[in-house]
Amino acid sequence: MNDLRSSLRLAADEAGILEAARLLGLGRTVAFPTETVYGLGADATDPTAVALIYAAKERPRFNPLIAHLADLAAAQVQGVFDDAALALANAFWPGPLTLVVPAGPGCTVCDLARAGLASVALRVPGNTIARDLLARVGRPVAAPSANRSGRVSPTRAAHVRADLDGRIDAILDGGTAPVGVESTVVACLDGSPRLLRPGGVTRGDLERILGYAVAGPAPDDSARPIGPGLLASHYAPRARVRLDATTVAAGEAVLRFGGMPAVTEARASLDLSPGGDLAEAAANLFSALRSLDASGTESIAVAPIPQTGLGEAINDRLRRAAAPR
Ligand code: TXA
Ligand code: MG
Repeated sequence: MNDLRSSLRLAADEAGILEAARLLGLGRTVAFPTETVYGLGADATDPTAVALIYAAKERPRFNPLIAHLADLAAAQVQGVFDDAALALANAFWPGPLTLVVPAGPGCTVCDLARAGLASVALRVPGNTIARDLLARVGRPVAAPSANRSGRVSPTRAAHVRADLDGRIDAILDGGTAPVGVESTVVACLDGSPRLLRPGGVTRGDLERILGYAVAGPAPDDSARPIGPGLLASHYAPRARVRLDATTVAAGEAVLRFGGMPAVTEARASLDLSPGGDLAEAAANLFSALRSLDASGTESIAVAPIPQTGLGEAINDRLRRAAAPR
């Protein structure tokens, strides 16, 4: 890592994926596309490599990271899957779901990546570029979102460059991440699955597979780490964020939803989904926050977003973006 040199830019073709895998194998940091957001990857078995992730992101060291794997078989080497975990993995992997399970006897994810916990967070990403890369690396790859800690997550290679250029070894450019919000994190530790973070798989999807209602994180859960996705202030643009806005002050930027009329006095204005489609809104969310922020406004007014389906994950990210810093 050299602050004066820019990060290597790799196309997501055969040669680019091979080079990215080679760098990861050497203990270097590589940002790569997943279907949710871009991840900042490093060999999860190598604490020196994992430390480079925390350094590049300026992330507090106690946050556990997700280990990414090419398939369920590779994940089962790392963690112990109970019936619920197996049902969810079979239903949603590859895809935007992370399972927190007890670490298995063969777990190679290092203590630093697990923040010293007895559990491990595992995910098989939904896009073929990431899975090709992971299959070539042949080891779990730790990857938080590829942004500076606390900032808006990246859904394009250009977002990664804006935050991390020169601080990481390479960026594998696989175009725009189609889901746009991070994976849903479910803990399967004690027989009753808990939703730790809403994300690309909706609560309704989980409950359809499990056949029962899924609880949130236990308030007194000592196993519950202080993770960035769980911090009050996170995903924050520079501007203040004002939720459930029905009016707009002069000079404010506006984040609209569902074809609300544009406001003429707004400094900048974007509609997450003119047709009111929550999947489209999720895909556009982080990129819209970045571009409204770039207008130089002091405040972003956000229209109400329905809390159904992917709206739960969208509203979760917006609440954190709006939280006092
Ligand atoms: O979509 C995603 O999940 C993206 C892409 C790159 O895969 N990754 C991502 O990672 O969002 P990160 O590090 O930003 O979020 C990891 C989440 C945090 O909320 C963390 O607290 C939780 O997973 N987590 C990780 N290990 C855990 C554990 N052992 N117990 C409970 N939560 C854990
Ligand atoms: Mg993140």
